[in-house]
Amino acid sequence: MSGNLEGRVAIVTGAGQGIGLETARVLGERGAKVVLADILADRVETAAEGLRSEGMLADAAAFDLTDEGAVAQAVAAIAERHGRIDIVHNNAAFQTSEQRGCDLDVINLSADAWDKAFAVNARGPMLLSKHALPIMIAGGGGSLIHSASGFGLLGEMTLTSYGASKAALINLSRFLATQYGKQGIRSNAIAIGFVLSETAEATTPQAVKDILLDHHLNPELGSPRDIANVVAFLASDESRFINGALIPVDGGFTAHQPTMVDFRRLFEAAGSNQL
Ligand SMILES: NC(=O)c1ccc[n+]([C@@H]2O[C@H](COP(=O)([O-])OP(=O)(O)OC[C@H]3O[C@@H](n4cnc5c(N)ncnc54)[C@H](O)[C@@H]3O)[C@@H](O)[C@H]2O)c1
Repeated sequence: MSGNLEGRVAIVTGAGQGIGLETARVLGERGAKVVLADILADRVETAAEGLRSEGMLADAAAFDLTDEGAVAQAVAAIAERHGRIDIVHNNAAFQTSEQRGCDLDVINLSADAWDKAFAVNARGPMLLSKHALPIMIAGGGGSLIHSASGFGLLGEMTLTSYGASKAALINLSRFLATQYGKQGIRSNAIAIGFVLSETAEATTPQAVKDILLDHHLNPELGSPRDIANVVAFLASDESRFINGALIPVDGGFTAHQPTMVDFRRLFEAAGSNQL
């Protein structure tokens, strides 16, 4: 496939499904050679095969982001096979239902859930960046993109470890941009809102979806493709002057006053928006 990412080599983590798989597809459609990385070997092999059957240049790499030796080995193998690394999308996160069940408010939080969230969501992107950067810099630079979340910006009643680990990822992104910008590296984070990935579909009751949609400025909830398109933009030279940024991609969820929905209801009941 041809496009503005032709000749680029991209690694996308958590690419076995959801946002990662869709990002891999969009990068592939724009001409990049995409390495789909995930801890789930079967799933990522099948996903890469699917993209190849759609005409893309796609490979699979199964490794655990929490294991530095495995990350180093995978990066070396990718560099050896493809000759360069230009794009890294740090997208994987640890969010199994068991993890969600333990990652609660601070008093009821399991410390183990905290460690697991940080190991995958913050330490993992640090390790992949650490090992990919020398190859990216040797190739003239590249783009790191990190899947953060609105949970990394604002408080919530639950998922404490997830939110704190995403806050760490947001600032890791700025440190990467600061330290390697002069060597041609751009590092940007996206604060993803609620997106109907397979995981989000399966784990979110309709009542919760309704609350979330109420707080969106857009009429609909987001899709994996809405995120993938922004990642592809940040991966491309079109975004060359964006570095160290945090970009909300959330249908306006974090753009308004926290009281917006309450006021909308009050105004609807009063038949006027005059305060
Ligand atoms: N879906 C949403 O609404 C939403 C909202 C905000 C942020 N995000 C963020 O976007 C990203 C993708 O979301 P999603 O819903 O597609 O996620 P998902 O749960 O569907 O996929 C995450 C992938 O990461 C992989 N993974 C987990 N641990 C790993 C490890 N140790 N090593 C390698 N891979 C590992 C999983 O196997 C899985 O395939 C995540 O970082 C998530 O936090 C998603």
